[in-house]
Amino acid sequence: MGKATKTKTLWECSECGHRQPKWVGSCPICKNWNTFSEEVVFEQKFSAPQNKPIPISEVALLQEQRIQTKIIEFDRLLGGGVAIGSLALVGGSPGIGKSTLMLQVASSFAKQGLAVLYICGEESAEQTKMRAERLQIYDKNLYLFNETSLSPIKNEIQNLKPDVVIVDSIQILYKPEIPSSPGSILQVKEIALEFMHLAKGFSITIFLIGHVTKSGEIAGPRVLEHIVDTVLDFEGERVHGFRLLRSSKNRFGSTDDIAIFQMDEKGLKEVPNPSVAFLEERMRGGPGSVIVAALEGTRPFLIEIQALVSPTSYPTPTRRAIGFDNNRLSLLIAVLEKRVGYHLYNFDLFVSIAGGMRFLEPALDLGVILAIASSFSNRSIDPETLLVGEVGLGGEVRGVSRIEARLKEGIQMGFKKAVISKRNLKGLPTFFSEKLDIVVVSVVEEAIQALLPR
Ligand code: TYD
Ligand code: MG
Repeated sequence: MGKATKTKTLWECSECGHRQPKWVGSCPICKNWNTFSEEVVFEQKFSAPQNKPIPISEVALLQEQRIQTKIIEFDRLLGGGVAIGSLALVGGSPGIGKSTLMLQVASSFAKQGLAVLYICGEESAEQTKMRAERLQIYDKNLYLFNETSLSPIKNEIQNLKPDVVIVDSIQILYKPEIPSSPGSILQVKEIALEFMHLAKGFSITIFLIGHVTKSGEIAGPRVLEHIVDTVLDFEGERVHGFRLLRSSKNRFGSTDDIAIFQMDEKGLKEVPNPSVAFLEERMRGGPGSVIVAALEGTRPFLIEIQALVSPTSYPTPTRRAIGFDNNRLSLLIAVLEKRVGYHLYNFDLFVSIAGGMRFLEPALDLGVILAIASSFSNRSIDPETLLVGEVGLGGEVRGVSRIEARLKEGIQMGFKKAVISKRNLKGLPTFFSEKLDIVVVSVVEEAIQALLPR
């Protein structure tokens, strides 16, 4: 045993001597470029192969290196900064603020001395410069490159050796070799793959901006999601100031977390305490207004739900939900009619989540029902009351996840009363009943009686 017979090849860095089984453009250890050359190594015939099963308890965790934008909410969303060499997709409808945010991100990297290449194929360099002036961005480490063909972009990346590349947008770039037009699935997929190789091969951190189509998907949706490490989606309505950034995929952090930003004349500002911002303009004590504790990712938010119920003489009344699922609204109206005995068939009915946000959580059901009941009866609900509960077809109020986090947010925001389901009371620490007047309900009707007594 132990005779040196077998040979194999490894790639070795001529600068620091680091060896690895695959070629890369930049050495992960000493960061030098184009230093890898192939080495032939002799191996012991019976030596252990490179890979073998190891007990899970002995697997060392690879700590990936990260760079921070110092935009705290953005860093938090990514799991504590951006992993170096990762490829992220930033999606959202036109005008929502993708270019604005990414230019701000580019600037904060450049301020730390990192070289940033911003590919502005979507707009001219002048247009991007104008936006930069508005945002007061003048960093000399930030390069704008107005190009849409992939090969000159790749060349410049080789020349400039940037730490960060931002592609605005993936749909505008093209490879002339591919016979389909820019933005087609084929082009978008090929280009994303090329950037993936650049990110991994040269440890460049890359952000691809992608437009979302009407149906809410990024062109070539599934393929792109599989290729990239991280997907960040921008949500929110253009007319409102609030923008929600959601991590729908994240290889380097938790998914379904969100960060809230607000657009003003100097770009996007993070909103570290969204409940305060959302409740700022609330209609305190008016009929049809309630506050619910919603949850996005791990984060609780207090938001206002408004309902407007008004008589109509048309045979088909209008039912519309803004920021809430329309089908769910129909279901809740049916519950009110069948289980509580409301006659809503000759009333138009609108439900809206204030601030232009969109929440699909069933935990908002109880709030929606009470907002409708409040508007219908033209009586107000005590503005310091919080509503949390899912509603079933039988009119039963069900428990929701993470009740403690939701109630804590309410306590912090000065709420005095909370209506929750029986199920959620079980195991709730006494702390909560000391801080809040907790009203426990098992059916919708009990909540209506408690909050809108006759
Ligand atoms: P933009 O970032 O261009 O959106 P996207 O790249 O997603 O299409 O900007 C969206 C809107 O934001 C645009 O209508 C102008 C507005 N805006 C501000 O309100 N304040 C600002 O500081 C900037 C730069 C833009
Ligand atoms: Mg843009």
